Amino acid sequence: PRPILLTRHGESRHNLRGRIGGDSLLSDTGEIYAKKLSNFVEKRLKSEKAASIWTSTLQRTIQTAGPIVDFPKIQWRALDEINAGVCDGMTYEEIKRNMPEEYESRKNDKLRYRYPRGESYLDVIQRLEPVIIELERQRAPVVVISHQAVLRALYAYFADRPLKEIPHIEMPLHTIIEIQMGVTGVQEKRYKLMD
Ligand code: G3H
Repeated sequence: PRPILLTRHGESRHNLRGRIGGDSLLSDTGEIYAKKLSNFVEKRLKSEKAASIWTSTLQRTIQTAGPIVDFPKIQWRALDEINAGVCDGMTYEEIKRNMPEEYESRKNDKLRYRYPRGESYLDVIQRLEPVIIELERQRAPVVVISHQAVLRALYAYFADRPLKEIPHIEMPLHTIIEIQMGVTGVQEKRYKLMD
């Protein structure tokens, strides 16, 4: 069985300020995570010649993959974070204050709620289909460096979690979720690299 390693990008400058979306770089803490992740991956996948690193097209995931030099990297637009449309770059507080109806609608149905000119979780789940097909097809390990909403959806697919739970799955920063698919089902390990 070959592992799939899922991780969010290291803490970004937007994360520090509580802003969603955007295309910011990593914070200093995020850069430390990138180095730790690289050490972990290079040790864990040492003899895995065909392994690859998949990122989104956003700077924070590309920068997180930066220190890894042993494996080829592929950028997928389908791994980009949920598009928050008109709310891109705002804090949840600002959305609540300036667009209270939007805030309420999302709270009431986070799975189906679509940001104006953006996406819903269901949209994200749908655009992940080609990524999932390719992940299933791979025979070598893959490290997926992506974003909270996207990883909730990917994780739910492999861990067989119900659709309605997806927007609420805990997906902490600076943690690797390793998934192994064997004949007896899916096994999961977590590695928390930083506090
Ligand atoms: O920037 C977007 C967030 O990572 C998604 O989190 O769906 O819980 O608002 P949320």
